[in-house]
Amino acid sequence: MMKHRTNWTAAAVCVLTAALAFCISAATKLSLPNAQPSDARSPVLARRKALLERLEKGSPDKLNVPPTDGRLLRILVEAAHAQKALELGSSYGYSALWIGSGLEQTGGHLWTIEIDAGRAKECRENIREAGLEKTVTSIEDDAFKAIPQLAKEGPWDFVFLDAWKSDYKRYLDVLLPQMKAGGVIVAHNTIERAGEMPDYLEAVFNTPALDSVTLSTTEWKCGLTLTYVRKKPSSDK
Ligand SMILES: C[S@@+](CC[C@H](N)C(=O)[O-])C[C@H]1O[C@@H](n2cnc3c(N)ncnc32)[C@H](O)[C@@H]1O
Repeated sequence: MMKHRTNWTAAAVCVLTAALAFCISAATKLSLPNAQPSDARSPVLARRKALLERLEKGSPDKLNVPPTDGRLLRILVEAAHAQKALELGSSYGYSALWIGSGLEQTGGHLWTIEIDAGRAKECRENIREAGLEKTVTSIEDDAFKAIPQLAKEGPWDFVFLDAWKSDYKRYLDVLLPQMKAGGVIVAHNTIERAGEMPDYLEAVFNTPALDSVTLSTTEWKCGLTLTYVRKKPSSDK
């Protein structure tokens, strides 16, 4: 009788141990990759987070998008599973770090263009510090010169316009033939600086092949206009 009880106890311990092992393994699989202390990339991600925070505290002349706009860019890139992304106006790379973080998840790539040599240099340094040098290519050039040379990397499925505002319509004209049907163009400052881009806003809201909406993630209404390229406007006729 005693022997039977010992056997039952041993069996119960085995079952409980197995159940516990199963629970731990399932919990490990469910936890977020960023939250894993053993994740080999966690020092890189911690460095990237610290860099983003440092850039957020930088002087206003850094011209960064607000953090909530950066987060939205990353969400859009990941949700759309973007593969080929282009940014016009890198400045010091703040928004490129957000877009690049999304592309790191989708396996895509970002080309970001900056005309100012000093900003482009700092952008490259920040991309390296963030561990995104394989995902983001920083180009120092005038976007109007660089875009035709980069056409071979397209078609683009994600474009972020954040260079000088009065140029947006010219960028749209050059980029639309390079867009993938189903791609997205995000333009920044479309509420607070709408007066500098009436031609752009008129085009994205009145071209049948494009579907646009303007939103704001900030109280002071910076404004982002999201344009979904249903099909190439040329095939619209
Ligand atoms: C608002 S800032 C970009 C901020 C950046 N997207 C961020 O959130 O971190 C605009 C940048 O566009 C750059 N820019 C303006 N015209 C350009 C052009 N034709 N080609 C490339 N860059 C340009 C400016 O030098 C400036 O650094």
